Amino acid sequence: MDNFTFHNPTKMIFGKGRIKEIGKEIGNNNINKVLLLAGGGSIKTNGVYEQVTNSLKENNIEWLESWGVRPNPSLEHANKVSELISANKLEAILAVGGGSVIDEAKSVAAGIYVDNIWDIFEGNAQIEKALPIFTVLTLSATGSEMNSFAVLSNDKEMKKWSFGSPHVYPKVTILDPSVQNSLPWRQTANGGVDSLSHLMEYYFMGLDAEVTFGINESLQRTVIQEIDKLMVNQNNYNARANYTWSSTLALNGISGVAMGGGEWTVHGIEHSLSVMNPEIAHGEGLAVIFPAWIKYVWEVKPEIFRKWAKNVWEADSVEDAIQKMKDKFTSWNAPITLRELGFTKSDFSRIIEITFNYGRVGKIKNLKKEDMFNILDLAY
Ligand code: NZQ
Ligand code: ZN
Repeated sequence: MDNFTFHNPTKMIFGKGRIKEIGKEIGNNNINKVLLLAGGGSIKTNGVYEQVTNSLKENNIEWLESWGVRPNPSLEHANKVSELISANKLEAILAVGGGSVIDEAKSVAAGIYVDNIWDIFEGNAQIEKALPIFTVLTLSATGSEMNSFAVLSNDKEMKKWSFGSPHVYPKVTILDPSVQNSLPWRQTANGGVDSLSHLMEYYFMGLDAEVTFGINESLQRTVIQEIDKLMVNQNNYNARANYTWSSTLALNGISGVAMGGGEWTVHGIEHSLSVMNPEIAHGEGLAVIFPAWIKYVWEVKPEIFRKWAKNVWEADSVEDAIQKMKDKFTSWNAPITLRELGFTKSDFSRIIEITFNYGRVGKIKNLKKEDMFNILDLAY
C-alpha cells in the first residue's frame, strides 16, 4: 500500500436543528464581520436564511450579503464578490448553499490575496493564505463542504478548472440534512450521481489499499440505496442523513486514501460539457460520461473493474455492472446520453478541444483525441 498523509481540519456539525450554532462557531474564531454568500434564493424559501441570520444576530456577528452565485459559478461573479470583501474589510466568508456557493467562496477567500483570481487556477499564483471559510450546506453532492478543492468557470476562455489548497478547507461546516427536503428531485439525483462518481474516480485508481476499497465500496452501495429510498419519499430523514454523510465522505479524502490521487478523467470531460452550457448540471454530465468511459477503458485494469462490478453492483461482469448503473441513473430520471443534454456529433471536436486544453487526459489509460471521440460516441 502506498504511503499517505491524511489530514482533514474541517469541523463538521451534523444533524437536525444545528444551523443555529453557526454564529457561535464564527465568534469562537474571533471573527466579528462576515460576508454571507448565497445563490439564487432557495435559502430564503426553505427557512435556512432565517436560521442563519438569527444565529448571527444572537452572537453579535455583523454581516453583508452577496447573492447570485450561479450553478457552475463564474469568475466574473467571484471578482465582484472579491471587491466587496476588500472594500468592506470583511474578515471571513460564510457560504450558505450548495457546492457552487462554497466553491466561489473558496476561490475568493484565496483569490483576495493574489493579483488575479484566475492565476490560481492556471497555477501562476502561490496560495499562502486565505480568508476563513464557514459553510452551511444545503445540497450534498460535491464534498466541497469538507475538502480543499474549488471549481470555477472562466466563461471568456471556456475553461472550467479547479484548484486545491489546504488553506481553503472550511473551518466549520454545518450540515442539517432536513433542509435538503426542499431540493427539486433533479438536484437530489444529480447529487447522488456526483457522489458516486467521486467514489469511482478514486476506486479505479486503487491497487492494494484494501481498507480504502472497503470504505469506498460501502459508500457507493450506501449512496445508491439511500437515493433509492429518497426517490420513494424525499422527506425520509434517515435516508437523507445517511446519503448526505456518504456524500461528504465521498470526497473528503477518506474514500481515496492511497488510491493514487484518483483518476478524474470523467470529471475533466464533464467540466467541458458544463462550461459549454452552464445550464447542464455537473451530475448530469457525469451520468452520461461515466458509463461510456468505463466501457472504453476497463480492460486495461480488469481485476479492479471486476471487483467493483461484483462488490458494488452484484454483477457477474463489468458490462452487466455498466448496464445496471445506467438503468439506475434512468430510474432516477438522470440523463444517460449526450443527446439528452442537447449535444450533437458536430459538438464533439469542440468538447475534445476544451478538454485537452487542460493538458494530459487520462491516468489508467492515457487518452488520445481519437479515444475521447470514441468515448463521446459511446455516450451519444
Ligand atoms: O442557487 P440556489 O437558489 O441556492 O439554488 C440551488 C441551485 O439552483 C439549488 N439548491 C441548493 N440547495 C437547495 C437548492 N434548492 C432547493 N433547496 C435546497 N436545499 O440547487 C441548484 C444547484 O446548486 P449547486 O450549488 O450548483 O450544485 P452542486 O452542489 O452540485 O455544485 C455544483 C458545482 O460544484 C462543482 C461542480 O463542477 C459545479 O460547478 N464541483 C465541486 C467540487 C469540489 N469543490 O470539490 C467537486 C465536484 O466534482 C464538482 O466539480
Ligand atoms: Zn463531481
